[in-house]
Amino acid sequence: MVLPVVPLPSSFTESPGTFRLASSTRIVVNNDADATASVLANVIAERTGLRLDITTDAAAQGDIVLHRTARQGEHYALRIGSDVRIDGSEAGLFYGIQTLRQLLTTDGDDWLLPHVDIDDTPRFVYRGLMLDVARTFFGVDTVKAFIDRAASLKFNHLHLHLTDDQGWRLQIDSRPLLTERSSTTAALGRPGGFYTKDDFREIVQYAAARHMVVVPEIDLPGHTHAIGLAYPELVEDPVMNDNLLAQSSALGQPLPVAGEPYLGWGVGHSSMKIHSEATWEFLRDVLTELAELTPGPYLHVGGDEALGTPQADFDAFIERVTALTTELGKTPVAWHEAGSAQVAEGTVGQYWGNTEPGDAHADAARHFAARGGSVIMSPSTTAYLDQKYDAEFPLGLDWAALINLETAYDWEPTAIVDDLPAEAILGVEAPLWSETLETLDDIDQLVFPRAAAIAEVAWSQAEDRDWSSFRERVGTLGTVWNAAGWGGHRPAEIVWSN
Ligand code: ACM
Repeated sequence: MVLPVVPLPSSFTESPGTFRLASSTRIVVNNDADATASVLANVIAERTGLRLDITTDAAAQGDIVLHRTARQGEHYALRIGSDVRIDGSEAGLFYGIQTLRQLLTTDGDDWLLPHVDIDDTPRFVYRGLMLDVARTFFGVDTVKAFIDRAASLKFNHLHLHLTDDQGWRLQIDSRPLLTERSSTTAALGRPGGFYTKDDFREIVQYAAARHMVVVPEIDLPGHTHAIGLAYPELVEDPVMNDNLLAQSSALGQPLPVAGEPYLGWGVGHSSMKIHSEATWEFLRDVLTELAELTPGPYLHVGGDEALGTPQADFDAFIERVTALTTELGKTPVAWHEAGSAQVAEGTVGQYWGNTEPGDAHADAARHFAARGGSVIMSPSTTAYLDQKYDAEFPLGLDWAALINLETAYDWEPTAIVDDLPAEAILGVEAPLWSETLETLDDIDQLVFPRAAAIAEVAWSQAEDRDWSSFRERVGTLGTVWNAAGWGGHRPAEIVWSN
């Protein structure tokens, strides 16, 4: 059996023997403020029912030691022998605990951990999941549940897609009509909703306690129909495109109408009024409040599918909005189309094309690197969690691809855009768009197990990745996910434990 851990650690040595957990096993910390001790106690209690004592006394044989080191970063060392010890920064300890959680097994009488020496450090610094809370609004508790799942797989960024044609999801004090009007709708007439500033802070804090940075997105200059319900003077009338017309007709969804809620799935019809200074006053207000609310370094400003915006206007808009974001002290992130423009120095591009980009998409992605920035890889044909597993799967869409677990696993982020230097790839993110989703259970169905595949793409060394090894290891996580009460799909290509 391969080491039952996902994502696979960067280095490990197994040896014979097991550590037996007892009710007398203690968790020993070298710093009583260390929040990771209770993370470990909770993980063990959830799985085994044992509630271990936490102490700052000297460690004795048979204890589990959490040793916070001065070393920064996400590295951890986990040694399991006659006792158990994890060394790392606070983030490192958190990741060591997630690994330990996956290693727990039972022989029917006792809870066991295999003897192993692990030294683990991630390949990419940016490992993200995205949740679209605009097309379907998910409340704070659901976002927290999503964070729990993501953090267990060592994802460290949560991208929240906060605004789209169907709704606006964040309180902005200087623009109260956004929450009064633009937030009240969602796709297909689902209930609207929004996060108050306190809600948003609560999400940010909950994520930070699990070593995740929130990346909020205000999608601009397209995907802005909902803004027009509150401030019609800031948006253009809808511009139809062939794809929108065909899709709306096939789905029986009405076309967008200026000033009325848009509840369909069509894209590319909306645009901010790019030449109006009122638009720029609005954007300064919104992005200033968002920057104040966001401790993380990134603000995502969208940039995708602005099909109704003439190219020169789009480029001028992107240049100005990324400069504004930089001026507010944040690093702009934008979908890769924005790479057509003179983005502000250091802007991060998010590549969402397929795994064989045409020249225009590849050029746009490379341009972020040429401007001193970097690229997050989110190929829609491998990393889009909203795409169906197979044609019969009841949830999700299929416009990019059918993505079974092997497809989600078997791709290499550095092999997609030619001549994009490997060091310009900041990391990997898997987006979950919410057109077809209503509940946390729906989310779980699409996220598990594919997010585990993406986590390994993002964390594990390229030369260590192997589908046959992964398919064995991921099957053992069924038990971990069941114990945590997380749902999900269990595709037949895997043998699942429990
Ligand atoms: C996207 O899927 N429109 C980024």
